[in-house]
Amino acid sequence: MCGLLLDFGLAMIVLPQRINGRLFSVLAVLATLYIITATKDAARLSALARAHQDKARHRSQIMQETIDNYEIITCSNQQQDQMEKHETAVQRQLESERKYLDALDLNGSIRLTLIDFILLPALLLTSHYVQLGYVPVGNLILLNQYWSSIGKQLSGMKKNSDRLLYAATCCEHLTSILQEPVIKSSGSTWPNETRTRGEISFENVEFAYKGGHSCLQGFSLGIAARTTVAIVGVNGGGKSTILKLLLGLLPQYTGTIRIDGIDIADISPQQLPNIIGISLQKSRLFSHLSAMNNVKYGSSHATSEDVFEACREVGIHERILLLPHGYDTTVTPDLFSGGEAQRLSIARLLVRKPPIVLLDEATSDLDARGQQEIQRVLNKFCENRTTLMVAHRLVTIRHADQIVVLDQGRVAECGTHITLMKRGGKYCEMMTAEVGDLDDEN
Ligand SMILES: Nc1ncnc2c1ncn2[C@@H]1O[C@H](COP(=O)(O)OP(=O)(O)OP(=O)(O)O)[C@@H](O)[C@H]1O
Ligand SMILES: [Mg+2]
Repeated sequence: MCGLLLDFGLAMIVLPQRINGRLFSVLAVLATLYIITATKDAARLSALARAHQDKARHRSQIMQETIDNYEIITCSNQQQDQMEKHETAVQRQLESERKYLDALDLNGSIRLTLIDFILLPALLLTSHYVQLGYVPVGNLILLNQYWSSIGKQLSGMKKNSDRLLYAATCCEHLTSILQEPVIKSSGSTWPNETRTRGEISFENVEFAYKGGHSCLQGFSLGIAARTTVAIVGVNGGGKSTILKLLLGLLPQYTGTIRIDGIDIADISPQQLPNIIGISLQKSRLFSHLSAMNNVKYGSSHATSEDVFEACREVGIHERILLLPHGYDTTVTPDLFSGGEAQRLSIARLLVRKPPIVLLDEATSDLDARGQQEIQRVLNKFCENRTTLMVAHRLVTIRHADQIVVLDQGRVAECGTHITLMKRGGKYCEMMTAEVGDLDDEN
């Protein structure tokens, strides 16, 4: 690019002197037209590249969905349908790729022809001047040489810009994800991380997912430091959403969320994870990391001893020792069962020792005895911490200092197990239904 600009600069000085000012004007106008059309073509090529990327992403989503759900696809006898779905997506991806490559070829040919087309009137004009004896014949050769060198540079530049354009469209989607604000603003840092009390308040919080219905409507809740609050309610009621809001993962809410009186929008994105630890509904382990590093994840200070101790507490230590390389075994997607993965996820939380703990159905994948054991471990761990927990089995949250019943995005009832049972409202209904189910099972 710099070389090309230098060439143009020199030509602006040399050509008017060596040949004729009018010739230079003709070349300058034609070159400007070339640049304008090239810019327009770039917009069209980006649109085609973007369409191709969208189709490629769609195809890879279907492939991922097929891998994730292969058991259910097989049991539902949907292999043929799923294969056809994937094939259609592959065909659409190939079709969009063909369109993009065709446009690229056509565009390249037009550009090369244009370069020659620009040279033609310049050569005719210079030949005319040579005939009239205004310029020596050597200058005609000079012009030809100059333009062919410019032509080479222009077509080289075009190839590079095509590559850059494609790379830029590939990054667009990723950039848009990365640019989503994680927290409303990354204001001041947490005043004193080690002395977090863990008092939490939600004040009139309203939230809706993009394109979805309103999920929380005027949700307000105060949680005293070092107490345990349980949120219960129907599926899709917004319980997990409340935890994600506190984690700063869903910044497009209105209202205020405070920790120790400080708006979380004013806590830096690096500080929030230091004070909150989670065990979520879907326990995810990291493939390609060892079992040890899966538990240590996010706790760079933790020692191997800390990991062993946490794993012993959640009853997964012996199971890990049976693996081919013990704690150094690389985790693969099916290495641990759902319940085992949940135990590892809780061990990760124990190792982190955060002042605020969020538990979303943290023991849902465990067997009955495992649930009781882990519940005891969690109760002890959460004694001196502020805990916000979500659970469907009400028996696991009876001990909470406050139980919040969520209904249509608002707090419908709030109190201890005893007060809510006496009240005879929604919580009492849910509890009675659960106990009734247990009795029926027995
Ligand atoms: N990423 C998302 N995009 C769009 N809608 C979402 C998203 N996540 C959740 N929702 C919707 O928001 C609502 C609340 O979801 P949320 O996961 O908070 O419910 P929940 O109370 O935790 O339910 P459950 O008891 O089943 O875990 C649901 O209707 C759900 O479909
Ligand atoms: Mg949930």
